[in-house]
Amino acid sequence: MNILAILGSPRKNGNTSELLNKYLEGIKENYRDVSVDEIFLQGEKIQPCTACNSCKKGDGAECKINDDMQKYYNKVENADLLIFATPIYWFNMSAQTKIFIDRLYALNFKKFPADKKLVLLMTFGDKDEKLSGAVNVINIFKYFTDFLKMDFVQHYGTSSEIGPAKKAESLEEVYSLGKNLIL
Ligand SMILES: Cc1cc2nc3c(=O)[nH]c(=O)nc-3n(C[C@H](O)[C@H](O)[C@H](O)COP(=O)(O)O)c2cc1C
Repeated sequence: MNILAILGSPRKNGNTSELLNKYLEGIKENYRDVSVDEIFLQGEKIQPCTACNSCKKGDGAECKINDDMQKYYNKVENADLLIFATPIYWFNMSAQTKIFIDRLYALNFKKFPADKKLVLLMTFGDKDEKLSGAVNVINIFKYFTDFLKMDFVQHYGTSSEIGPAKKAESLEEVYSLGKNLIL
């Protein structure tokens, strides 16, 4: 079982990373033999899609942009589960996450990626998913997974402005979601 976790926060040890780590901890508690790859997008040089459409020119066509994204096409194709972890920025996903997703346009949609699972984790400053704009991101991922015939297994979002007690509760919640995930 291959898991690819994509951290879209520019802060390597921020709220979103903490949430992702707890979720992964939960998964590893239940599944000892999973292989987990993590991409810290901020540390990678990944350019936005330029819509050159080279990737759509016939069988075997590939993305022509020569940057760090080239390391990840195979990893995405080989992953059974993709976990996107993003902070909410202006009622949307982070720019780092959006650029990564745009570059997935180069995948061969005919082969990819029926039955792959996807999980979405988010942190935001406002009170809840509606006020923060997390609802928009959930909706985008619904369209994304429907289009690609992926299985949108679950999403979890939490405010980062809730104080230590509620934060501990929220980390416990995400841990147990990971632990109970059926792979
Ligand atoms: C540029 C920017 C835009 C933000 N926009 C929103 C927003 O629209 N809604 C919201 O609830 N929080 C917003 N926030 C707050 C972050 O989502 C929140 O602090 C999050 O937990 C940060 O995650 P991190 O610790 O991984 O960086 C914004 C923060 C930044 C820096």
